[in-house]
Amino acid sequence: MRGVSLRYPGAAGAAVAEVSFEVPGGSLTALIGPSGCGKTTVLHLAAGLLAPGEGDVVIGGRTVTALPAEMRPVGMVFQSNALFPHLTATQNIEFALQASGHAADAARARAVAALQNAGLSAIAGARPAELSGGQQQRVALARALVLAPSVLLLDEPLSSVDAVLRRSLLDELRALQRQRDLTVVYVTHDHLEALALSDQIVLLNAGRVEQAGSPRALYERPATAFVASFMGEAGIFPGVRRGGGAVWVGPLQLPELFEGAPGAVRVAVRPEAWRLGPATASGLAGSVVKRCYLGKAVEYVVKTGLGLVLVTSRGPLMLLELGAPVSLHLGAHGASVLEA
Ligand SMILES: Nc1ncnc2c1ncn2[C@@H]1O[C@H](COP(=O)(O)OP(=O)(O)O)[C@@H](O)[C@H]1O
Ligand SMILES: [Mg+2]
Repeated sequence: MRGVSLRYPGAAGAAVAEVSFEVPGGSLTALIGPSGCGKTTVLHLAAGLLAPGEGDVVIGGRTVTALPAEMRPVGMVFQSNALFPHLTATQNIEFALQASGHAADAARARAVAALQNAGLSAIAGARPAELSGGQQQRVALARALVLAPSVLLLDEPLSSVDAVLRRSLLDELRALQRQRDLTVVYVTHDHLEALALSDQIVLLNAGRVEQAGSPRALYERPATAFVASFMGEAGIFPGVRRGGGAVWVGPLQLPELFEGAPGAVRVAVRPEAWRLGPATASGLAGSVVKRCYLGKAVEYVVKTGLGLVLVTSRGPLMLLELGAPVSLHLGAHGASVLEA
């Protein structure tokens, strides 16, 4: 996407504005952001279902902005799978092949093979209504893949699938993507899905790219408070940067250096970055005001001079009582300076 903008007819503002990002061939990019931020619009622009007011769509080095959808080397799987309800799984795939110019008997054979490859032979004769949500999306994916698109666009394909099955379908999708070297754009509003699945994350906010980069970069080095909070829980605290990139939050120095002009900064701290211990002279003093036992971790809210701090405590679980005086320190990772 090169500087792509789109305003829907009659809308007051742009749905997406000056969106630029690149999806390297053979990799998986997660396009994420809150509901209404423009994810589906960007996918539709890539697929040619919408034409941008400004900017260009380039696929494999070729500008395709003026190319109609059916001419683009793109496959798409929608949120609701859009299988034809009166056709069986095999017939759905057969139909897609015939629509793209394959002869009837060849289409039949390839459809059968496609379902077999996807491990779906057992449901080849079933109609969508006889299939679970997960099975329907598997068929929709097999249908998109059988046309061997250069780019596969997936718009929240697993949002109607329950959490356990979603996890295994995600693993399947990732394995398939790696095995066949597919170029995939995967839309989701779920940052955990994006972190687990992708090579690159593009985070949209109100139609604009807020930050793009590796999953680690977005989680560990968020540029803005929006990114820090969207990618997981984060407390945002006022801090000060001194010479050499040393940054302080209250009485604590961040373990890592963050180069930049000295002065006031904002610091994002993940709940798991805090080390919680009995009250000592050093550290950030506080007292426990809330405790939530989660099994593999305990969440505390600690009242400090910097305000309320959310702390996730793992490891050997020593339960602290409400009102207990504590000291907070920072672990090696999980605190970063916001650029804006
Ligand atoms: N067909 C449409 N006509 C007018 N506005 C639309 C249309 N589709 C989406 N929008 C608006 O464009 C913005 C982006 O929508 P969309 O791309 O669907 O977001 P997302 O997929 O991230 O939830 C939203 O404000 C939405 O209301
Ligand atoms: Mg959408």
